[in-house]
Amino acid sequence: MSSSHFTFSIYFLTFALFLQTIFGASPLFHFCSSSENFTTNDPYESNLKKLLGNLYYQTPLLGFGLGSVGSYPYQTNGLALCRGDVATTDCKTCVNEASNEIHKLCPYNKGAIIWYDNCLVKYLNKDFFGQIDNQNKFYMWNLRNVSDPTTFNEKTRKLLSLLAKEASVTPKLYAVGELELGESKKLYGLAQCTRDLSNSDCFKCLDGVIGELPRCCDGKEGGRVVGGSCNIRYEIYPFVNS
Ligand SMILES: *[C@@H]1O[C@H](CO)[C@@H](O)[C@H](O)[C@H]1NC(C)=O
Ligand SMILES: *[C@@H]1O[C@H](CO)[C@@H](O)[C@H](O)[C@H]1NC(C)=O
Repeated sequence: MSSSHFTFSIYFLTFALFLQTIFGASPLFHFCSSSENFTTNDPYESNLKKLLGNLYYQTPLLGFGLGSVGSYPYQTNGLALCRGDVATTDCKTCVNEASNEIHKLCPYNKGAIIWYDNCLVKYLNKDFFGQIDNQNKFYMWNLRNVSDPTTFNEKTRKLLSLLAKEASVTPKLYAVGELELGESKKLYGLAQCTRDLSNSDCFKCLDGVIGELPRCCDGKEGGRVVGGSCNIRYEIYPFVNS
């Protein structure tokens, strides 16, 4: 019984990895806004298609893109962001994948957001640029517990707070770094904001998500707080390309 369950899990995992190799990475999470929908042949739909097309061309070059298409009441506003270390081609692949996937997941919603390891894509029928998104948020964590949670949590907070300061004063609003944990172990961290935010709002956003770590990631070997405007991540292994 348990052995066949095990075999199934391995099979499933292999299958999942196989699919991932063929179709690229799968989304981490998404939200469809339920407040307003459009119908088929609505001008909003063609504006949205144009916007996603623009983001696809704009984003890979600088790792960030933003724009609005159309005018009220059919205007759509959107942005795309790739993780700070992601190469142009991978960024392009991710934004393309995200646009296709979000269209399938939220076909008639005027607003939606989708996250991958390598990028995020967001759009809305309202101008949201420069405002901290406190609504769309999710947590991820490693199931494994550390042996000394108090010290570990302190170090995690210390590293991420340093990275929040650093990220919020760099043009890319992105920072990564490491911290020695002793016994030749290291803690790796990342902090990033969408580049429509001001430096001070980036810091405010990152400070806020760091404050949420106890809700998800207390004493966990790895964790992420991921929002629509900023995100943090820490692991005990390296996870970005240097
Ligand atoms: C929009 O569509 C979703 C399903 O796709 C539905 O759950 C939601 O209630 C709709 N919202 C409105 C305002 O019609
Ligand atoms: C980690 O700790 C939590 C809370 O103490 C416990 O419920 C969970 O089973 C532990 N996880 C592992 C993988 O040991």
